[in-house]
Amino acid sequence: MKNIVILISGSGSNMAAIVRAAEQGRWGERLNARVATVVSNRADAEGLRFAKDHGIATAVVDHKGFSSREAFDEALMAEIDRFEPVLVVLAGFMRILTPAFVAHYEGRLLNIHPSLLPAFPGLNTHQRALDAGCQFAGATVHQVTAELDHGHILAQAVVPVLQGDSAEDLAARVLTQEHLMYPRAVAEFLRNLPL
Ligand code: GAR
Repeated sequence: MKNIVILISGSGSNMAAIVRAAEQGRWGERLNARVATVVSNRADAEGLRFAKDHGIATAVVDHKGFSSREAFDEALMAEIDRFEPVLVVLAGFMRILTPAFVAHYEGRLLNIHPSLLPAFPGLNTHQRALDAGCQFAGATVHQVTAELDHGHILAQAVVPVLQGDSAEDLAARVLTQEHLMYPRAVAEFLRNLPL
């Protein structure tokens, strides 16, 4: 069985979408993969409850307990590597990762970002899309590289910006598409792994 590790910081709705897709066998038997653990940097991340309720191991590595990013990332790597994952999935994980962490998981580290990259890397993507007068917005699944929100693009979902949209309206419309796109992108990644 191939192990996937998912990292979250908050509500974990993308993680839940991936777990549900795996549970419902939407990946197909041949993929032979499971979400082995969900790790959060915050003990109060809502998504941890969902993972526990679905029989998935959970762990908290609280960034506030470390004096440097390097020390935090080392502890995070130790927790992840217990499961020898073929894939590490960032799903609303709101920490910037060190180059050492990214290098350690090179080629098996995915992120979802709530904009149509390369537009709007970083934070407040929906408000920035509204301020720029964009007619379309969306989300991107990409390989993680040392440069924030860069890296090879694996999938994108596009939604219209509607008149009168607030950033919250747009975020909700985009998030619905994220939930469809991320499980598919994960399945595609697994399908392309060497046997
Ligand atoms: C999602 O919209 C995701 O694209 C975004 O945070 C939200 C997490 O929601 N990620 C980032 O902004 C990463 N920089 P979730 O916790 O419910 O999956």
